[in-house]
Amino acid sequence: MESWNDYSAYLAKYLDQILTVKEPSRLYEPVRYILNLGGKRLRPVLTLMAADFFSDDYRKAINAALAIELFHNFSLIHDDIMDNAPLRRGKETVHEKWDVNTGILSGDVMLILAYQLFEVYEPSLFRELAELFSKTAIEVCEGQQYDVDFETRNDVTISEYLKMIDYKTAVLMGAAMKMGAIVARVSDSCKESIYQFGRNLGIAFQMQDDYLDVFGNPETFGKQQGGDIVANKKTFLYLTALKKCSKNEADMLRKLFSENPKDPSEKITVVKTIFETSGATDATLSEIENYTQKANAVLNNINLSEEKKTKLREFGEGLMNRTV
Ligand code: IPE
Ligand code: IPE
Ligand code: MG
Ligand code: MG
Ligand code: MG
Repeated sequence: MESWNDYSAYLAKYLDQILTVKEPSRLYEPVRYILNLGGKRLRPVLTLMAADFFSDDYRKAINAALAIELFHNFSLIHDDIMDNAPLRRGKETVHEKWDVNTGILSGDVMLILAYQLFEVYEPSLFRELAELFSKTAIEVCEGQQYDVDFETRNDVTISEYLKMIDYKTAVLMGAAMKMGAIVARVSDSCKESIYQFGRNLGIAFQMQDDYLDVFGNPETFGKQQGGDIVANKKTFLYLTALKKCSKNEADMLRKLFSENPKDPSEKITVVKTIFETSGATDATLSEIENYTQKANAVLNNINLSEEKKTKLREFGEGLMNRTV
């Protein structure tokens, strides 16, 4: 069993090879730009970690790990266009630095490059990885569409929100871990368990992302503060605040979330206060904890040593305290 830093260093070495800029440079420069901005690289490291835990050899999972990170970065470039986001990882987003068309095509090529990376695997492995990848990528698109549809709807339910974040975010975390298990050729039940572990953590992870969007330190979080409020995103914070606050405040919240003011600072301040005073913030933090515990409960069914299970638990609990 290796350390997080070992997996991460191994990944960085191979990512470097993808970073060479070919012609046309306008297509590949943004690919290099977004990958060079780093990010936490959680998903590919989880792929390597799962492969290591199940087979003691994480190296053969490198292409799957790279594919997951390329796919993730592709989805961020397109997500930033859809969310009209100015900042990513503390720097200009691709469509701001270049333009929307560049963001679309550089994102597209990353998606295809991701798919191509599976070609090194022998046919049965290739098929299993590609099937999971396709299924997951389609769900991410569905989740992203729900997310955008919800911006202009005022009757979104918590269960609709949960399905949306499961699709846009959680299934990729699950798939990242499952790919490590697939490469390690473990039993179907192990693959399914690690998938459910990653998926529950993914739900907690997206709720934490929504929380940090409002209450995080933009210096470390690296995104526009209150971006979800500006875009009228129907997050758990918003949906819970609506349930918990007074009728007057609920009317005000609904009204604010149907508007797009030029200067959103007043809107952000008012919404933040209602999130806090209604108890929605505390409810969100406790829901993040619940999903982290759900993920831990899945570990009871996995055939792994206690030491490895502890590492996985520590990882999930660490995510709850993140500021980036
Ligand atoms: C951002 O993911 C997109 C979400 C699913 C919330 P990360 O927070 O993992 O982004 P990076 O890769 O570390 O920048
Ligand atoms: C992103 O959700 C999910 C995907 C990119 C598929 P967000 O829109 O909340 O992610 P950030 O906050 O921009 O990173
Ligand atoms: Mg976004
Ligand atoms: Mg988004
Ligand atoms: Mg977000």
